Amino acid sequence: MITGGASGIGLSCASAVAKAGGNVLVSASRKPEKTQQAIAHLKAINSAIDVKAFPCEVGQEASVSAFFAAIAQAGIQIDHVIHSAGISPNTEFFDQTQAEWDQVQNTNATGSFLVTKYAALAMKNNPVRGDFRGKILLVTSTNGINSWDPVSAHYDASKAANNLFVRVAAEKLSEDQICINGLAPGWINTDLNATLPPDVREKESAKIWMKRWAEPDEMAHCALHLLTMPYLMGQVVMADGGYR
Ligand SMILES: NC(=O)c1ccc[n+]([C@@H]2O[C@H](COP(=O)([O-])OP(=O)(O)OC[C@H]3O[C@@H](n4cnc5c(N)ncnc54)[C@H](OP(=O)(O)O)[C@@H]3O)[C@@H](O)[C@H]2O)c1
Repeated sequence: MITGGASGIGLSCASAVAKAGGNVLVSASRKPEKTQQAIAHLKAINSAIDVKAFPCEVGQEASVSAFFAAIAQAGIQIDHVIHSAGISPNTEFFDQTQAEWDQVQNTNATGSFLVTKYAALAMKNNPVRGDFRGKILLVTSTNGINSWDPVSAHYDASKAANNLFVRVAAEKLSEDQICINGLAPGWINTDLNATLPPDVREKESAKIWMKRWAEPDEMAHCALHLLTMPYLMGQVVMADGGYR
């Protein structure tokens, strides 16, 4: 199951799962045509798999709860979760309002908590395979570790919350044999960065040792790697091409 699976890193993760032969369930985009395009794209990659999309507003508990209830009602067992849904409005520091700050925390920080909580409640009923009943990967951000961009202060704070949350949740979820880790991407070519001011883009690009941004399918590669790695628990792994 992949939140934000109809675009960017989430869609690339869904495509990689489809290529590998896994059934895919995504949280629907709020834009219906985007969801339909994503479903068609995934079916074109592998017509033998099951592809489904259910609505989920990740920052609202009633919506997340209904999303997982619909999954259970459809008789679907969730083995792996990639939580990729998130927002990043780039706004000058002193123009960031409480409303925008709250929206970012709600989507990114609260959304990660809610998706983790309900995914883990669903996974508790799974049979144990190997060490775990299920695995969760949160897509966090290097911005939650080392950011120098005041335009994303609210985003960076929300992603720092994600990174600490992975650690805390891992201890609790281990009681039920559920695994959680985080993937912290650096700069990736997706729509998320459409509002990044050109001067910030230039300044940030100059700091990357690999001298380029990553493509979303490279993050999908990392995500599937982390989800299938043994003995990894409660870690946030940075994939930023080297960054100073
Ligand atoms: N791109 C980067 O450079 C970068 C770097 C580090 C971390 N990340 C993280 O990677 C994740 C994916 O971002 P992306 O780059 O792939 O951006 P993206 O293409 O804009 O995808 C974001 C996805 O999140 C969904 N979403 C946003 N708010 C939501 C909400 N309230 N409820 C449900 N879904 C919601 C969007 O759905 P709609 O279609 O409905 O809008 C969209 O599918 C995010 O968590 C982001 O913080 C990205």
